[in-house]
This record gives sequence, C-alpha cells and structure tokens, in this order.
Amino acid sequence: MCGIVGYIGYRDAYPIIIKGLQRLEYRGYDSAGIALFDGENINLSKTKGKVDDLKKKAQASMSLKGSLGIGHTRWATHGAPNDKNSHPHYSNSGDLVIIHNGIIENYDAIKKELVNRGYTFSSETDTEVLVNLIEEVKLKENVKLGKAVQIALNQVVGAYAIAVIDRQKPDEIVVAKLGSPLAIGVGENEFFVASDASPFIEFTNNAIYLEDEEMAIIRLGKEIKLRKIKDDSIAYPSIQELQLNLEEIEKGGFDHFMLKEIYEQPRAILDTYRGRLLAKEGIIRMAGIDQNLEKFLNANRIIIVACGTSWHAGLVAEYIFEDLARIPVEVEYASEFRYRNPVVTDKDVLIAISQSGETADTLAAIKLAKEKGAFVFGVCNVVGSSIARETDAGAYTHAGPEIGVASTKAFTTQITVLTLMALKLAQAKGVFDRSRFHEYLTELEQIPAKVEEALLTNPLVEIISNVYKDSTNCLYLGRGYNFPVALEGALKLKEISYIHAEGYPAAEMKHGPIALIDEHMPVVVIATSKGHYEKIVSNIQEIKSRKGKIIAVVTQGDVQVRELADHVIEVPETLENLTPLLTTIPLQLLSYHIAVMRGCNVDQPRNLAKSVTVE
Ligand code: M6R
Repeated sequence: MCGIVGYIGYRDAYPIIIKGLQRLEYRGYDSAGIALFDGENINLSKTKGKVDDLKKKAQASMSLKGSLGIGHTRWATHGAPNDKNSHPHYSNSGDLVIIHNGIIENYDAIKKELVNRGYTFSSETDTEVLVNLIEEVKLKENVKLGKAVQIALNQVVGAYAIAVIDRQKPDEIVVAKLGSPLAIGVGENEFFVASDASPFIEFTNNAIYLEDEEMAIIRLGKEIKLRKIKDDSIAYPSIQELQLNLEEIEKGGFDHFMLKEIYEQPRAILDTYRGRLLAKEGIIRMAGIDQNLEKFLNANRIIIVACGTSWHAGLVAEYIFEDLARIPVEVEYASEFRYRNPVVTDKDVLIAISQSGETADTLAAIKLAKEKGAFVFGVCNVVGSSIARETDAGAYTHAGPEIGVASTKAFTTQITVLTLMALKLAQAKGVFDRSRFHEYLTELEQIPAKVEEALLTNPLVEIISNVYKDSTNCLYLGRGYNFPVALEGALKLKEISYIHAEGYPAAEMKHGPIALIDEHMPVVVIATSKGHYEKIVSNIQEIKSRKGKIIAVVTQGDVQVRELADHVIEVPETLENLTPLLTTIPLQLLSYHIAVMRGCNVDQPRNLAKSVTVE
C-alpha cells in the first residue's frame, strides 16, 4: 500500500506534496513524511500519524523551501509505524533520498551484505535497504543515479513504486515501478509523480502510467525518458488525457467521504448503466461482452475472484448468473485461489472484480488464470488501473473515485455491471423470453430512484444506531440474494466501528450462531417480501423467542415482520435479483452512524487502507 507523491518544476513543492499526500491517505495513513531539496540540501521531516501531524512537524522543524520534493503516506509492512520507519529514507551519505510503495522481499539478504560493507541502518524497513543498495551501486560502478537505480532494481525481488532524488542532481527525479501503481503528471516545465492522478489533477490533465518493470528519468527541461528495468532498453511513453475532476475527489459538503459516497449511489448506478442499458430498444450494449460473446457462451463455467466487498458483489453475481443466464459460477477469494493449485482451463472465463484495480491478490489470481489459458474479464472502477490493464477485456463500473476506505458505491455499481452482464448473456443464450428481459431492463432503470427512496431511511437509521452504538457484537442474517448483503453489512460494521459482527445465511443460524442470541444481541435481518419470506419470518421468530433484538430491513408495506421486530426499516419493492441494490443502503447507513457515534475515524479506520497492494 502507501501513497507516494513527487514534484519537480517552478512552484513551491511543499503545498503540492502535502495536498497530494492528503488525497492519497486512502492508501495508508499510519505515518507520513516529506523531503524538499532547497538547492543545496535535502531537508526531511517525517512522523508517525497522519499528514496533518506531518504538516505541524514540518512547519516547526524544517525549511519548506524548494521546487523539488517527494512525500509519502505509509501503511506499515516492515517495521512498526513510528518516526524512524516512516519514509522518506536517506542513504548513508545523505545524498540520496527515497520513497517506496511495495515490499522488497529479499531485503534481509541485501541488508546483511551492506552491513558487511559498513552500511548502517536507522530503521527496520526494506526501503532503507533499497536506497543504500542504490548508493552502493552508484559509488562502486561510478554511474549516474538512473543507471544505479536500474542495476539495483535488478537485484531485488518484490514489488515497488519508487521515487529517488539525489543531492548532486538538483533537476532530476528517478522513478520505477513493478507491481505498485505509478503515474507521472506532465505539465509545462513541471512534472508530478504519484500513486494515482489525484495529487496533480488541478495542474495537468496529461499523465503517463508506467508499466511494470519500467522506470523513468524525469529531468526539468528535458523529455521524459522511459527505460525497461531489465535490459535498459528504451520504452516509449504514451500520454493519456485524464477524465478525473477536482469536485469528484472532494467532500462536497458531507462530513465524511463515506457518507458522500453512500449518497452518490443513485447517480453512480445511473452512470454505470448509462449508454449500456437501452430499455426501450430492449438492448444491453457492452463492448467487452459483445466482442467476446463466444468465450462466455462456450465457457464451461465462470470463476469469479475478488476480495472483501468486491467478493461479496461476486457472491451476488453468482446467484444472478446462475439464475438468469444458467451458467455455472464459482466465487473464490483471490488470495486462496492463487495459492491452491486450482483446476483452470481454456474453457473457463475468469471475472476479476476490484474497485481499485490494484488489489495484489486479485492481480496475482488473474495472472495465474491467464497462464492456464482462461479468458479473463475485469470489473474495475479505477480507469487505467493495473487490473484493468492486465485483463483480456472488461467493463468499468464508472462509480467515480471512492475515497472512504469502506466500500459503498463500489458494491452497488459492481452488482449493476454484473447484472447487465448476466442479462446480456441470458438474452444471447436465448434462456429469457422478450417480456422477462424487458421487465428486467425497465426495473433496472427504476433502481436509482428507488435507491433515493432507500436513502430517506437515514433519520430512522440514525435513531436505531443510537440504540445499538454500544453493542459489542452483532449478527446479520439474510437468505438467497440477501445473504451476501448480510456479509457485506457485517463487514461494514466491523471495519469502521470495530464492533464484532458476523454475517450468516439465516437458515444456518440454528447450526451454531443461535447459541449467541440473548437480550444483548442485536440481529439485523434482511426480510424482503420476495424470496423465502415465510422462511425468514420463521427465523425471526426463533430469534424473538430467545430475546434477541431484531432490526429488520423489509419491503415497503410489510405487516408480518413489523409485528415481530424491534425496529423496521422499509425499502421499496423490486425484483428479487435486484434487492441487494436497495437492502444494502440502510446497512451502510447503520454502520456509518454507529461509527460516528463511537467517535471512530470513518474514512480511515485503523489498520486498513483503501488499496491493498500487498498480499
Ligand atoms: O479495490 P478492491 O475492490 O479490490 O478491494 C477489495 C477489498 O480490499 C475491499 O473491498 C475492502 O474489503 C473494503 N475495505 C471493504 O469496505
């Protein structure tokens, strides 16, 4: 994980780097640091804590002069989050300074060799080893910074996006990438470096995304030189025009990004199907499917790989693909799939789901499936992300930037894309008659308005949150399409409020979890009118008779559950397959309010990061 930012040009680097780091805090926020070259020295400040803590420390302790600088916001891998382990790191001579996102796996062996040669280390990090390796190469081989970086990187095993500056090179930043993202913003007489484009969006719309095993020597007044790290051959940069805008990455009047993103869902879902869903014409247009239709139709099965919330969207997709398109589906945790020698053939289609498009386990699962000959399709939000580039074809969710660590609009837009895919395949296979297909398309068009209605439950959900904010445990139950929603509701609660929560298929309750139920246990039950309603009413009765507190999410107008539950939250009626798009809304709001009431940092929960680029 970690976020990196760099600037070289004619402006003051300090405010650009600080603001950039704040935008990248979704990538990690346990410590932060900055290094500025004032023309003579590279001054550095770093601290445990957030970018705001860094600001205070830097302003009090260092010169903020300089038009060349680099900064880092960390999610600790090697070494605890403390001042010493924070980036940037100096080399032993003090000439070189590095920031790094990733892991150097063979750092211990390299460190031992460097210690034998007299190097000393002040941190426990793999990154300090790397900067000293670069220095050792530079001195021993008598080469310039760029060449030293290239030689050193050929000796390391692992993943990295790095930026290195050299006190002897006042007009240069050297960057390199393998496995972690790195974008270069290209302005007029100035360049920006960052883990994504958000730190430089107000300065330039032109960006170069480095490919794996590429490095760049960025020099003022010169064109950017791209090289292959392996053999030093020249690579040719392609400059892309960015689609991002500034408002999209700011809070827009909401207290937290998470709340803003919950409220963005009607618009995000609309953007997801805009241009794809043509209800009147009875058409779903998806280029990635149209161009590869045979692959899907001839597939033995679909394997879905993902992590976290994206995995929950995958579970919903399993139900939809099997139910509507009658294609067998298996859903796998990417981290398990990649290490368990799975049987995959060229008759399989693998769908990888990822908001960030950078999740290391999902990326590795894709590479494995490709090696085994499977056709790989990506469902990503971040345009140009590593997963989007690694897959054979794909469909973007178009949710817009999701900054809150807890995924909200990513979930509903992923389900929307996957539903469109399932419908399209159902139609192509001829397993759907025209009127059923038309009914689905028309109902999908109603979903943004129905999500708006579901959002109206917010004041009620806030009142309910106040009742349960001090709970220590919580159960979430759902059946069928709402079982993954129960899992997702529980994940949301635990990750931002630190209340222990479990999601279960409601019928599984009697096989164990029922033992937990007493008058102190809140149980959130998703009990919409379509799909096993009578069964779930029985489950609610079982909870009631054991004095559990029931918070039920029901369809508008429900009578039966209302008589049993302690609290009832109504969402609009829709087709059974589409209920997750509505039932998940009050659960997102419930976890949000409980976390706020408990004083938790909603957008940056402890120990987490938005993009999990380590395995
Ligand atoms: O970017 P991805 O969708 O690949 O991320 C996967 C998970 O890390 C992510 O969904 C995580 O579980 C969220 N924090 C959940 O809110």
